[in-house]
Amino acid sequence: MRILGIETSCDETSAAVVEETGDAAKPWAIRSNVVASQVPIHREWGGVVPELASRQHIRDICGVVERALDEGDTRWSDLGALAVTQGPGLVGSLLVGVSFAKAAAAAARLPLVAVHHLAGHIESLVLHNGELPLPSVVLVVSGGHTSLYLVQRVGSYQLLSRTRDDAAGEAYDKVAKLLGLGYPGGPILDRLARSGNDRAVALPTTRLTHADRNAPELKGDLDFSFSGLKTAVLRHVRSHEGPMSEMEIADIAASFQRVVVTSLVERVFDAARRFGAKSVGVAGGVSANSRLRAELKERGERREMPTFVPSLQLSTDNAAMIAAAGLRKFRAGVTSPLDVNADAALALT
Ligand code: KG4
Ligand code: ZN
Repeated sequence: MRILGIETSCDETSAAVVEETGDAAKPWAIRSNVVASQVPIHREWGGVVPELASRQHIRDICGVVERALDEGDTRWSDLGALAVTQGPGLVGSLLVGVSFAKAAAAAARLPLVAVHHLAGHIESLVLHNGELPLPSVVLVVSGGHTSLYLVQRVGSYQLLSRTRDDAAGEAYDKVAKLLGLGYPGGPILDRLARSGNDRAVALPTTRLTHADRNAPELKGDLDFSFSGLKTAVLRHVRSHEGPMSEMEIADIAASFQRVVVTSLVERVFDAARRFGAKSVGVAGGVSANSRLRAELKERGERREMPTFVPSLQLSTDNAAMIAAAGLRKFRAGVTSPLDVNADAALALT
């Protein structure tokens, strides 16, 4: 069976055709995965402007879907279902994908499957690597999220912790902005960090010990926090006299990256130990980070723990991961009614 996936939760308009392989160990194959990025539009403003994003999705959605079908050598009649990101994300952006998907499902008489964006990121690990050894501890880390999940069975997700303030990718973007480096900040800082000294600037690591008042059901000691780190970088930059040299900026990038990556990797392996995980995975835009990938692999090898990341193309927002997560839900017997609505704060259950 083939499924069409649609993703418009933030600033990428994406459509993909994914099909079942019949191989239980590597269940999905990508026939096409078209991504129209809006980065050049938002770069001018230093971040995503929601109103511009939804308007651009409207312009792009038809062409992106047509291209995904074309490149996947697929007609509407070859499809068995249609999957779309329901949330979380920017509501205006989500609405474009959800409305398009509902109309297309009605017109082509296809079952509709509403997908959680983070379930999609988790599925990107399976798309690239095959099924993970379970239980698995999976970190989804992007511009909007830093959330740690325990996956005990396929398709079931238990939230273990999340960030109390900024997402890791958001911290990258804000720090790059205050250093005057452009948008998105993650790839820029990652590149600069390679030539810097990661011990040059003393930056704080936040270790939370108490439960968050807003989420008493979580123990809280695996939570993340990046706003103090961002403020420390800001203070360091403000206290600097005169313009900063390239070397000084590289040192800040390397020191910042060391603190972020260490805190992510430590929580992942702490959780893996605590919950007896047989594998760990990291997905989402920040999983493209070179130091994060290297440290994860190195730590995993030391502890004989299999570690998984998606390909670089599947780490950022794309519809193939949504199609795959939709296919999993569809095979579990879950479809969505045609009056399903976008939900900017959808919880993953
Ligand atoms: O998953 P994604 O495409 O969109 C969201 O759902 O947010 O993630 C985008 C985020 C941005 O904050 C970007 O700066 C960050 O991922 N990012 C990186 C790297 N590449 C992208 N952060 C650190 N290092 C990278 N190499
Ligand atoms: Zn994402």
